[in-house]
Amino acid sequence: MTSFFARLLGKATSRKKQHTLSVDIHSHLLPGVDDGSKTMYESVKMIKAYKAMGYKKLITTPHIMWHRYKNSSEIILEKLEYLKDALADHEVDIEVEAASEYFLDEHFAKLLANKEILTFGDNYLLFEMSYTRAPKDLREIVFDIEMAGYRPVLAHPERYIFMHDDFKEYEELKELGVFFQLNLNSLAGQYSKRVQKIALELANRGMVDFLGSDVHKLSQTETLQRVLASDTLQQVFAKNTILNDTLL
Ligand SMILES: [Fe+2]
Repeated sequence: MTSFFARLLGKATSRKKQHTLSVDIHSHLLPGVDDGSKTMYESVKMIKAYKAMGYKKLITTPHIMWHRYKNSSEIILEKLEYLKDALADHEVDIEVEAASEYFLDEHFAKLLANKEILTFGDNYLLFEMSYTRAPKDLREIVFDIEMAGYRPVLAHPERYIFMHDDFKEYEELKELGVFFQLNLNSLAGQYSKRVQKIALELANRGMVDFLGSDVHKLSQTETLQRVLASDTLQQVFAKNTILNDTLL
């Protein structure tokens, strides 16, 4: 016979608070500026999907990657205003801000020197680099970012193939003060089995600071929805201090 206390415990367990996410810090939702949303219609549809998933604030981050996407703070902020107007027209009530996903290149070095950087929250700077090859002076760049008063956040650390075989690479970056932003859809294997495995490993080691959707198109919001409802995500919350909702 199940005792009263066992039943009570069972109920308490089933009622245990599920962690949710209210803030997203990485996406490509501004139309026509990079490889993300192509039209305003698509942007509005994607943002409706985020709202339905419970998000309250989106910090969208178009690429600034000089060999592919020659964006600037002005272009991004202007597009953001158009997007906000469209959301108001469609009565989609959600907070939207913009920063950028900076690719580490010479153009970035110039922007950094001039402090022409779009940040989010308390001076966080989202950056990415080549998936296959480490920038030769990565430590120096991280140091420069920090000396300029920014807090470096590495986008999707699990996607850098050149780091996969040596976890010390990750540990060293953490020691330098780099925050790690895991892509939620990596947990579902959206990129590859290998990337999924590294994502879980980073999470199990408690090395994740932010979670990002990195959504580029509507179909990826379906994967995102599955990840948000998964036990895996609850385990990520249990093992890491996730900072997203400090930005609300
Ligand atoms: Fe991205």
